[in-house]
Amino acid sequence: MSSVRRSAVTGVGGYLPDEIVTNDDLAKFVDTSDEWIRERTGIQMRRRAAPDQAVSDLAVEAARRALAAAGRSVDEVDLIIVATTTPDLTFPATAAIVQRKLGCPVGVAFDIQAVCSGFVYALSVADGFVAGGRSRCALVIGAEMMTRLMDWTDRGTCVLFGDGAGAVVVEPVEGQGTTADRGLLGFALRADGTKQDLLYVDGGPSTNGQVGKLRMQGNQVFRHAVVNISEAVTAAAADAGIEVDKVDWFIPHQANLRILEGVAKRLGIDEAKVVTTVAEHANTSAASIPLAMSVAVADGRIKPGDLLLLEAMGGGLTWGACVLRF
Ligand code: UT7
Repeated sequence: MSSVRRSAVTGVGGYLPDEIVTNDDLAKFVDTSDEWIRERTGIQMRRRAAPDQAVSDLAVEAARRALAAAGRSVDEVDLIIVATTTPDLTFPATAAIVQRKLGCPVGVAFDIQAVCSGFVYALSVADGFVAGGRSRCALVIGAEMMTRLMDWTDRGTCVLFGDGAGAVVVEPVEGQGTTADRGLLGFALRADGTKQDLLYVDGGPSTNGQVGKLRMQGNQVFRHAVVNISEAVTAAAADAGIEVDKVDWFIPHQANLRILEGVAKRLGIDEAKVVTTVAEHANTSAASIPLAMSVAVADGRIKPGDLLLLEAMGGGLTWGACVLRF
């Protein structure tokens, strides 16, 4: 059988800012309750970045941990992709700021803006670079400060989000072109711009010159999520050549426990295989999947050789899924 170059995830790292904000903390200034938030979303707490932290600071910490896990040094990194919807500045790209702060040599650095789906989109782009022979050591980072986009008077959104960052190192490995190969095995990416009004931020440099606040028709997004994520997962599994029930770990975007459970049920995935961090992290947008991966790798659930299924959905609307062997 011929040898094929694959892109493999060789290290994972996560970083959460120190401050914990509980549901009761929020109930002090917005008309909500711990009971409502837990029952409808599964969220118990979220982290909030310090006022002097920028999203690149979160990204740098996660990246350092991923590099240490992969046994790689900053000198070896030749590509940095940051998936974020809350950049430090309108430009330069947060990835270029991360490159400077990490002290990486000159390489390629840019951001991906696909909101909560950003990490899956970024992995797919990194796969193109690494499997195509244009990168030997890529950092793919999801980093977000969603608390900076909240309207703290809107109980329908402000209780749902948190801050954090997760990162993976992606490197080339030789495979046989079979589903037993280590590496990124299949993707399905989707977007439907006609659904913009369901989830967006009402500001931007070329419209009103503001950063803006997050606006969401939550129940509409919920409905779309369960149906369309299932389709993308099935398509990514077909792209990889595997059956969904062969997956060892399902690592969904952590938006709402009821969505994760609904998608897992629809796909026939055993609840015990679902990695959930939404209770502790809330929705950290593009950071949620690599953060959840970092938790399940650190506690020994995810082991080398395991088959992982990732999926996400967010503003755009965008959504997508990825199958990889760790
Ligand atoms: O990561 C990007 C993707 N985003 C998502 O996947 C989010 C998807 N959507 C959701 O997770 C859920 O739709 C929410 C958690 C946002 C809302 O849950 P829901 O079960 O769909 O509730 P709803 O929006 O239909 O609202 C039901 C009731 C309303 O009151 P009335 O009109 O029935 O009197 C809301 O005003 O719940 C009320 N409500 C709240 N009550 C207490 C909404 N937010 C809150 C709150 N506390 N925080």
